Amino acid sequence: MITIGDVKPRNKFFLAPLAGVNCAAFRIMCKEKGAGMVYSQMIDAQAMAGKIDVVGKQDYFDFLNVTEEERPSAVQFVGNKPEHIIKCAKLIEDKVDIIDINFGCCESDILGRKMGAYYSKHPELMTRLVKPIVKELSIPVTAKIRIGWTEQSINGVSQATILEEAGVSAITVHGRTKNKLYSGKANWTIVKQIKEKAGIPVIGNGDIDCLEAGRQRMKESGCDFVMIARAAIGNPSVFSDSKKTKDDFFRFLELYREFDTFKFGEVKTHAVWFASGLKYAKGIKQQLVKTQNIDEIIKIYEKI
Ligand SMILES: Cc1cc2nc3c(=O)[nH]c(=O)nc-3n(C[C@H](O)[C@H](O)[C@H](O)COP(=O)(O)O)c2cc1C
Repeated sequence: MITIGDVKPRNKFFLAPLAGVNCAAFRIMCKEKGAGMVYSQMIDAQAMAGKIDVVGKQDYFDFLNVTEEERPSAVQFVGNKPEHIIKCAKLIEDKVDIIDINFGCCESDILGRKMGAYYSKHPELMTRLVKPIVKELSIPVTAKIRIGWTEQSINGVSQATILEEAGVSAITVHGRTKNKLYSGKANWTIVKQIKEKAGIPVIGNGDIDCLEAGRQRMKESGCDFVMIARAAIGNPSVFSDSKKTKDDFFRFLELYREFDTFKFGEVKTHAVWFASGLKYAKGIKQQLVKTQNIDEIIKIYEKI
């Protein structure tokens, strides 16, 4: 198995970073079902670096909620000042295996603060951010990019070259531009071009909905690993190519109770996602959105 720095993923299929989705229970369940490595939700390093001094380290750890069970794991930060990411990352160097930097987020607040996908328009700025982080941390630093800002300014290969020279240990490529957001089809030709030039592992990402599709993409593009995002939401079984059942939700709930701080809204959202694809999903989801407590959710699932 190819390594990322000195980190050995369990296999070639990773759970992508997913803000608002990847709670500890979900990450652990994806690992149980077969994910080779799991990523956290994106953490805003600028906001967090300021908060740590106010709320203290323990609150930060509680918020991140990274567990031994999910390792090997990566925590992803978005930021534009190395000192913010270094401050947050240093505190968890012994708890996670990889620190990933987000260069693909397209939220207006993030772009407005010159972070995330803003860098795809200004890749020359990446070095200043990444180099000090790589130098300061004892664990591998990786980066996740989009292939460019617009279809007319695709620059995935040069972004990857800059990042490799800055010292990252792997690059994840979501084969879409910032302007495309999630529309259209991911451009795997650029993933292939990046892999052909890169001397470090490349993780391909975009539109993979089953393991076979991932294998096919790795074969065509030569990339070393693939990352699955939307197809995993409500469906960790995507990592074992098995058909999901209602028991998947019950397993999620069990893990959630063990590893996360119980938030009804969060459980309910996952309950709705887990219902997708089950028999009579539409009706079940309509019932689920009306629930007010966990017992009502359990009753609905028991009846399926
Ligand atoms: C709900 C949602 C949340 C996401 N959150 C993040 C995030 O926190 N960090 C990140 O790098 N990408 C994030 N992404 C992008 C995915 O990681 C991935 O790059 C994208 O969805 C394409 O992969 P897919 O076609 O397998 O969904 C998010 C996507 C979705 C749909």
